[in-house]
Amino acid sequence: MIVSVIGGGGLVGSCAAYALQCGGVVSGIDLIDANADKGRGEALDILHGTSIAADQRIRAGSYELIPESDIVVITAGLRRKPEESRLDLIGRNVELFQTILSSVKLAGLKRDAIVLVVSNPVDVLTYLATRQLGLPSNQVISLGTQLDSARFRSLIADALKLPPTQVTATILGEHGDSMVPIWSAAQAAGLPLDKFPGWTANTADALFAKTRGSGAEVIKLKGGAGFAVGLAIREVIHSIALDQKRILPVGSLVNGVYGMRDVCISVPSVIGRKGVESQIEIELSPKELSGLRNSAKVLRETIDMVLAKNPAANTSTSAAKPSTAVAPSHAVKVTMGSGGSTGSARVTISGQRGGGRNG
Ligand code: 2OP
Repeated sequence: MIVSVIGGGGLVGSCAAYALQCGGVVSGIDLIDANADKGRGEALDILHGTSIAADQRIRAGSYELIPESDIVVITAGLRRKPEESRLDLIGRNVELFQTILSSVKLAGLKRDAIVLVVSNPVDVLTYLATRQLGLPSNQVISLGTQLDSARFRSLIADALKLPPTQVTATILGEHGDSMVPIWSAAQAAGLPLDKFPGWTANTADALFAKTRGSGAEVIKLKGGAGFAVGLAIREVIHSIALDQKRILPVGSLVNGVYGMRDVCISVPSVIGRKGVESQIEIELSPKELSGLRNSAKVLRETIDMVLAKNPAANTSTSAAKPSTAVAPSHAVKVTMGSGGSTGSARVTISGQRGGGRNG
């Protein structure tokens, strides 16, 4: 499994490459960067560690490497200032992203290649990539709220002095200001979080506020995220490379799930070798559902603005015939409900094509 990182000379790209080296799963890591020396420098630094870390091929180059890639990670882009929202980056990054998409298309992608977009505003840029790359939409993934969910779990564990890997909590929606905490499903060691000693409503609000502001906080303190986003990227790539079918809060085109359409947004997604193999419509509280739909509305409005301002972005290359994977419009409804007298949770999973809760 060969992974190329466009923007591999930058902080996010090089940390993703290093995380993949430490993970030892993929067989090749290619760093592509407009700053050729920087890309070569990061690749050389990582190559120096291969004798300790893993038997992987490490290369630096340009778009000529893309046709060999099984997964293409796009991290290149300008970073926002702490006081800016990710959506504020639109003006600066859409043009740059368009040139990246053109270069990738010109170089030629494998039919079954997976593209993972990280550059911000990631949900909007993923939508453009889905329209323009000519891949089935299940093969174009946004890192989405995968990093936000990792931060959320880590910050909850730190505040409650819990083992971080035993905290399960997720954030859905926009990787941005309208992101939604799914408190109804938050647990530690399989126990409801809100039953833990010391838990109050204020704790929840404070932890979500800290999570939501984490990107800006890291930018202010050290210029931008690197280590955690590298690990967040690795988890997605490993689920693809090992066909793990992990359920991750990543974004892709939705076509009905939770009643949302024609935006790229993070919902619980089954990630395997074919990309987004299904989107799971876990039952949410009314507040969570309305928050998620608001996120979709914010993103749709931004996409419309981008398409109006950038006619070049308004092109759409028809997708190749969908790979045998289930297209992400195949929403799987999961209904949690009390069992019989035991009151134990019962999960029924019923596949359905296209329609989400509201069809
Ligand atoms: C962040 O939240 C890079 O958007 C990413 O740090």
